[in-house]
Amino acid sequence: MTAAGSNSPVLSTQALVAGYERDLPIVRGVDFSVQTGDFVVLLGPNGAGKSTLVKTIAGLVPVHSGTVLLGGADITAMPSHEKIRHGLAFVPQTENIFATLTIHENLQIAANVLPKERRNDRIGALYAMFPDLGSRPSHRAGQLSGGQRQMLAVARALVVEPSVLILDEPSAGLSPKIVSEVFDRIAAINDAGVTTVLVEQNVKAALAIADRAVILVEGLVAHEGVASQLADDPIVAELYLGVRHTKNPVSS
Ligand SMILES: Nc1ncnc2c1ncn2[C@@H]1O[C@H](COP(=O)(O)OP(=O)(O)OP(=O)(O)O)[C@@H](O)[C@H]1O
Ligand SMILES: [Mg+2]
Repeated sequence: MTAAGSNSPVLSTQALVAGYERDLPIVRGVDFSVQTGDFVVLLGPNGAGKSTLVKTIAGLVPVHSGTVLLGGADITAMPSHEKIRHGLAFVPQTENIFATLTIHENLQIAANVLPKERRNDRIGALYAMFPDLGSRPSHRAGQLSGGQRQMLAVARALVVEPSVLILDEPSAGLSPKIVSEVFDRIAAINDAGVTTVLVEQNVKAALAIADRAVILVEGLVAHEGVASQLADDPIVAELYLGVRHTKNPVSS
């Protein structure tokens, strides 16, 4: 939720054009802005460029033109590990943990960007926040359930106490019950003050926990607004999100 009285964007992109090859922009001029403390969900059809946009923000896809600002500073050309140090944490859609390593080793690697004396304190704090991980630090990550793996990936991202946490489809492949557990944890992290950007396919569940929603179509922002209002907008749902309404909700 947005902290009372704060309305400065902590993260924004301006006319951002980016893609894997120079002559093939995938993100085609995106203005995207997230207020301090907000929970924004990024929606859109498969191939819309959601992952490419968040990877570009994280410094993992070449920028063709435009800017990325974090806390007012231009971080467009900053290497991804420096962005992490500046408070921008990113949980990728795939390969977000080291499956052959233990839970503890996964957290230690993430903590390597911190000064030595802070590392153990932060890992201890994360074990307190995620008791499922804290109860078995020497468990191999690859043997965890899907939901626990996502929690480990989130814990790795939180090691640096980021100001902004970006998650790319943490619900992929999880059962509805586990999705709701994962979403509850993410909502709690946001409530604790971490600005959150969540890329999701799970439209209904995501709109239910987010403050704002941005819909990306073919590399451009097609629609944005208050999440609860978008959830109730049948035209938006049908046009952009592939949701078909069998009943007319107009008079409700
Ligand atoms: N590593 C890559 N190299 C080249 N092209 C890529 C790469 N990753 C994605 N693309 C292309 O970029 C476009 C946007 O893909 P992207 O993964 O950003 O979409 P998305 O909105 O995240 O989709 P999904 O909902 O399926 O995750 C697609 O046409 C895709 O083929
Ligand atoms: Mg994606």
